[in-house]
Amino acid sequence: MMRLDKCLCHLGYGTRKDVKKIIRSGVVSINGIVCKKEDTKFDEENDQLMIDGIDIIYQKFVYIMLNKPQGVISATEDGLHETVLNCIQDTTKGLFPVGRLDIDTEGLILLTNDGQLAHDLLSPKKHVDKTYYVEISEPLSKESIELIEKGITIDGDELCKPAKVKVLSDMAIELTITEGKFHQVKRMILACQSEVTYLKRISMGSLQLDEELELGQWRYLTNDELESLMQ
Ligand code: URA
Repeated sequence: MMRLDKCLCHLGYGTRKDVKKIIRSGVVSINGIVCKKEDTKFDEENDQLMIDGIDIIYQKFVYIMLNKPQGVISATEDGLHETVLNCIQDTTKGLFPVGRLDIDTEGLILLTNDGQLAHDLLSPKKHVDKTYYVEISEPLSKESIELIEKGITIDGDELCKPAKVKVLSDMAIELTITEGKFHQVKRMILACQSEVTYLKRISMGSLQLDEELELGQWRYLTNDELESLMQ
């Protein structure tokens, strides 16, 4: 059971004061009956909540996949740039991006309000694979690829865990890493006397970027995607 005002706040309808106004205005109904009392308790899993005649499905946790465009920051707030939260229309409170992509990196970013899942995916102990499509300025030598696969040292003293390289062409590879060091892919490629010219994340753990999503588009995860991510 949940208080009606708390539920609407969580869904992003505003502050307690805002939602009190909405409820008192008579646009909210529970099981077809108008409800004007903000402290009404209802069963958020089984009762039918409607606002302005629109069916509202309450979900405690929300999971969103976004194809992040360049120029957008992986944070919840930024004084200067658009953030990943500005790209989505879901107003649920407490959504945040799981991990970070650089401003000029595109691709898969997961947004959720489920702190436990985020923690599990980001925990260094869990070694969650992250795969990137990487375009580079110079081809990688055989030795460089071997170094990356054994564990390359970046910036003189930072040792990376072994990573996987799939060569697509002279100027493009897929790189799978299990850590999330600052600018890791760019620094790994720099350590190989080359430079990243384009970077896109294509997977995180079992979650693959949906190729149907254009840059800046998002969708909710399917149950299958969520289940395999939680295993
Ligand atoms: N590695 C980078 O260098 N940048 C990213 O955005 C992600 C991984």
